[in-house]
Amino acid sequence: MLNGKNIVLGVTSSIAAYKSAFLVRLLVKAGANVKVVMTPTSVEFITPLTLSVLSKNPVYSEFSSGKTGEWNNHVELGLWADLMLIAPASANTLAKMASGICDNLLLGTYLSARCPVYFAPAMDLDMYKHGSTTENIMKLKSRGNHLLSPAFGELASGLIGEGRMAEPEEIIEALQKSLQQQAPLNGKKALVTAGPTFEAIDPVRFIGNHSSGKMGFALADELARNGADVTLICGPNALQTKHRMIKRMDVMSAAEMHKACLLDFASSDITVMAAAVADYRPVHVADHKIKKEGGAGLSNIELEQTMDILADLGKRKTKGQILVGFALETDSELIHAKEKLVKKNLDFVVLNSLKDDGAGFGTDSNKITIIDKHNKTENFELKEKTEVARDVVTKIKSLLASTDTGVAI
Ligand code: CTP
Repeated sequence: MLNGKNIVLGVTSSIAAYKSAFLVRLLVKAGANVKVVMTPTSVEFITPLTLSVLSKNPVYSEFSSGKTGEWNNHVELGLWADLMLIAPASANTLAKMASGICDNLLLGTYLSARCPVYFAPAMDLDMYKHGSTTENIMKLKSRGNHLLSPAFGELASGLIGEGRMAEPEEIIEALQKSLQQQAPLNGKKALVTAGPTFEAIDPVRFIGNHSSGKMGFALADELARNGADVTLICGPNALQTKHRMIKRMDVMSAAEMHKACLLDFASSDITVMAAAVADYRPVHVADHKIKKEGGAGLSNIELEQTMDILADLGKRKTKGQILVGFALETDSELIHAKEKLVKKNLDFVVLNSLKDDGAGFGTDSNKITIIDKHNKTENFELKEKTEVARDVVTKIKSLLASTDTGVAI
């Protein structure tokens, strides 16, 4: 959930500031872009250089940079952030946040931020238990800021109690969980197919196609980034799944892919069939390698049609389920795509034409047209497959929002 997110990490004056280094490291490792803002006195606990090296970004602690006098734009920083995390959050900073005081860059950024704000208090136990701190935290929570509760344990003063900043690993876990709950597709189950299928001729030969699986993997990733619980059923390919919300199932043939789809389809809210399923398979699969001498076994392979998995799912589809298919065409593209949309009972079809340079198999890019069951047609530019996946998922989200997911056609 943190991958690609812009995060402003606010560091305040507390001994727990030493943990900020680990926090930055974990955020960057999770794929986040991190900019650190420090209160002026927190630089005595941990150097801006350490946090700058780890975050790979300049660290800001004043409204303007000393020598050049350049303004460190707190408004820009606040608007840049997808999420603001203040860790450690001292009693002093919490009090200022609660009352709208803006006497340093961190507080200015906080007041300018429109994104969700998380704060991890760190202070001695009596400071944490003090009525004013409790009231400030309640005030911040009532404004929608998220508390990352401190832990119980030995404190810098030697006292034992509540006030120790949550460990960086716990903070990351809590952020992931919270972002997951806020994600637009949280609670939705998605089924995605990707890659080719291989139809065996004998133990060493098969009928296959050039599909790389990149489009299907990008779709699975984008659905997971939006909070869906994804099952990715993939034919043979060399790709890796990136997201922990993706459960991967590897299959070889169209028959195996069909069987795997049936296990999950009934409980799926969203199904996207991006796989290039082989349309034909050998009727007989030899259990030994067919020798080329004589030729008969290889020059006359009898074929039969595979199950059209998408069409079968279209027949099983119930109200509320979204079913999306792909159409790869070389001529009369719109006509063929619309035929597939109707015949396979889809909510929309994603058309790509092999005539378009940079679209189709093997490339990192694709150029698509989306046609929905109301005949609404949207043409998109040639884009990276990750961005194409974003367009497809945006269409899915708009259908879910309009609850336009009946079984009509
Ligand atoms: N598909 C499928 N099972 C098959 C063949 C295709 O589920 N046996 C799905 C693909 O995953 C894709 C869509 O059907 O989402 C369209 O596939 P495509 O090969 O373009 O079309 P076909 O229906 O096979 O028709 P044709 O080969 O005649 O173009």
